[in-house]
Amino acid sequence: MLQRFSVSLEEQLLTEFDRYIHGCRYTNRSEAIRDLIRKALVKKQWDEDLEVMGVITLVYDHHQNQVQDRLTEAQHDFHHQIVSSTHVHMDHDNCLEVIIVRGKAGQVRELTERLTSLRGVKDANLAMSCTGGGIR
Ligand code: NI
Repeated sequence: MLQRFSVSLEEQLLTEFDRYIHGCRYTNRSEAIRDLIRKALVKKQWDEDLEVMGVITLVYDHHQNQVQDRLTEAQHDFHHQIVSSTHVHMDHDNCLEVIIVRGKAGQVRELTERLTSLRGVKDANLAMSCTGGGIR
């Protein structure tokens, strides 16, 4: 059920906020504020090392010495945190791997750092999301 509340803002801040939401293609202030609140709550879940979900994206050159073995070894060490992974052969040299993860934020970060630091990994990104339990 939706609840209403009023917010007081300085005119200048409201002008900047309206410019921001227009740039982000929001059609009204309420949806923009809801998203900002959710983002803050997701950040809090990660900061407090709670149960989270996320997606790790890796790009690597599979010719690089042992990179595939090391990626596999790291993922087996964190098998409790890995829900699923998909491998795409991008071109002759490069692979894209998408790994869906869940668990304590700290463990997910540790796995991400381990994969990121492997030689041959050209790009790594962690999209931080949250479990449904924390946010309704
Ligand atoms: Ni490949």
